[in-house]
Amino acid sequence: MTFDEQITQIKELGLMRELRAVEPAVGAYCTYKGQTMLNLTSNDYLGLANNQKLKKAFLQANDFTTEAISFGASSSRLLTGNTNLYDEVETLLAQSYGAEAALFFNSGYHANMGILPALTGKKDLILSDKLCHASLIDGIRLCQADHIRYRHMDHEQLKTILTRKRHLYNRIFIVTESVFSMDGDINNLQQLVDIKNQFDCMLYVDEAHAVGVSGSKGLGLCEEQNVIDQIDIIVGTLGKAYASIGAFAIVSKSLKQLLVNKVRTLIYTTALPPINMAWTKFIIENMTGFVTEREQLKALSDFMVDKLQVKGYMVHNSHIMPVMVGDNKVAVQLAEHLQKKGFLVFPIRPPTVPVNTARLRISLTADMKLTDLEKLIPFIPDYKNEY
Ligand SMILES: Cc1ncc(COP(=O)(O)O)c(C=O)c1O
Repeated sequence: MTFDEQITQIKELGLMRELRAVEPAVGAYCTYKGQTMLNLTSNDYLGLANNQKLKKAFLQANDFTTEAISFGASSSRLLTGNTNLYDEVETLLAQSYGAEAALFFNSGYHANMGILPALTGKKDLILSDKLCHASLIDGIRLCQADHIRYRHMDHEQLKTILTRKRHLYNRIFIVTESVFSMDGDINNLQQLVDIKNQFDCMLYVDEAHAVGVSGSKGLGLCEEQNVIDQIDIIVGTLGKAYASIGAFAIVSKSLKQLLVNKVRTLIYTTALPPINMAWTKFIIENMTGFVTEREQLKALSDFMVDKLQVKGYMVHNSHIMPVMVGDNKVAVQLAEHLQKKGFLVFPIRPPTVPVNTARLRISLTADMKLTDLEKLIPFIPDYKNEY
């Protein structure tokens, strides 16, 4: 197929994606196609990215001069890109998790693409939840280890596979998310810890959508479920509730040493700009204190979950809500309809989600008001069981 034919096919399937210019406006609002809309697509869960007070406090606390801070790192962390800020950020993260070490990456994508290929070999097995994020899937694809996907959050199936296969492999990694990115459902990490212990596996948990939000200190679902010290690799991303960029892995000291030596997505990429690492450090230092934001997000989520359940949707007790549509083109139409009414939401379609499960993914942020959501509810149709 020519490139043009491929584009035509993508369009016919209702799967066309395009880059759109969206500008932040005040609070949870943004400007899209010249119209101000409530932004229901952002992962800025605590509403920090555009918080004027916070930005001012950051600039005042740092008193930046052009000599004191750089806007580019100019080389990788293993060369000269590894400023003191990296060390400070990793120390802060390790301390807050009560862990031996933390390792910082340029993004969650870099972390998930790099860690598993660095730690696994031919005699190993990776068992991943069927709905794991693309970055984990892509990382696993680079591994030499065997790979089996178990049904979404079906820990009984996971145990069955382990009972049959454990003796065939050297190391086995169980890989999952804590709060799932496209469904917003919440994993039972204690169950996974028990399975990991029973079958002598390693547990890798991607907390991208839970860090900042879950747990009284915002450390994630592992804090809320009290299993921080029982997970071998916790990955958190900074691009969502942390309102920055980057990711971290909470690991043992020896694992960190090994990863620094082996992770290609850490070794062969330019470090993040110091100016950005300074912002990241500032947010991490303040993360425990964002209690009001976490409470507001919880109140908004409870309200919205309730309203969507009344309309027949299967939504879970979190800040991410799938408004399930099924058909790709219908999802596009519904998103456009909501946009016209002042609500920015985009359709999520395959391959991001399984075929026939196109949806609108509503994500809430703490800078929204209850009245914003009250206005949205009448525009969401009742759930139709058509997919
Ligand atoms: C579960 C999960 N892990 C990792 C990532 C990638 O993180 P980043 O945006 O920092 O690359 C995402 C991004 O959406 C995600 O949803």
